[in-house]
Amino acid sequence: MRNLDEHNITAEAHRRIAATPDARLHQIMRSLIQHLHDFAREVKLTEAEWFAGIEYLTKTGQMCNEVRQEFVLLSDTLGLSQLVVAQSHSRAAGMTEQTVFGPFHVEGVPTLIEPGSDIARGTQGEALYVSARVSSGDAPVEGALVDVWHADAEGHYDTQDADWAVERSRLRAVFKTDAEGRFSFWSILPKSYPIPTDGPVGTMMRATKQSPMRPAHIHFRVRKPGFDTLVTHVFADGDPYLDSDVVFGVRSSCIGTYERLSPGTAPDGTRIDRHFYALDFSFALEPDPAG
Ligand code: BEZ
Ligand code: FE
Repeated sequence: MRNLDEHNITAEAHRRIAATPDARLHQIMRSLIQHLHDFAREVKLTEAEWFAGIEYLTKTGQMCNEVRQEFVLLSDTLGLSQLVVAQSHSRAAGMTEQTVFGPFHVEGVPTLIEPGSDIARGTQGEALYVSARVSSGDAPVEGALVDVWHADAEGHYDTQDADWAVERSRLRAVFKTDAEGRFSFWSILPKSYPIPTDGPVGTMMRATKQSPMRPAHIHFRVRKPGFDTLVTHVFADGDPYLDSDVVFGVRSSCIGTYERLSPGTAPDGTRIDRHFYALDFSFALEPDPAG
């Protein structure tokens, strides 16, 4: 077909993918073409704007490497990541809700079985003791693997250190729940922080006058066969950014109390001679819908 114009080009683009053998791929491609074309028609996209968009996406791709995922960040800040998470993991009342994964998780961190391990590994900050329990219904979940990761008091993840290597990981670990579904560790108190704004996502934040702040949180991933893997955060109750999280991740079931305690004996018996914080949290797992 020739002499295509802005009105009939969509039908022709649909015709060209009509033989796609994979039905789901066909559905996604067809809808993508439809929405992209409708978008360009609706805003009357100019050639200069189209080219600026291409340049923007190119820079976003060029910024990505093993530890910097600018495309994930773009998806997160446009609300797309949390939208996909929300429609993929509906939760019954009382279950801990799913939130965005974010770009700072690392696979391959050593598994710490010892309760009360210190994952700060020398990072400066206010001491925090975390005790948690994983259950499903009324039963504790034993042997679940729990990935934990969070930023330091300045909002930096270890992967943002110039000399980062998995062996030098800090503020991250993997734990295994005991027979009562419990795990515990020491770390430092997380603080609210801005997402990285030195790339294309930061350019968008400034151009659209958005705050880049995330409320203080610790990330958790809880896995055990037979349960829907839970990727979530525990946010700090009272944080000023709970209702404006730049990546739309806050759920009511994911807010915990980081309680400030006087010097004395910590819940695990450790003597501590300065103020410290304690978080006690329960994660409720949903059985895997696929069995
Ligand atoms: C994070 O909290 O690690 C995060 C999540 C999504 C985007 C940027 C940062
Ligand atoms: Fe984070």
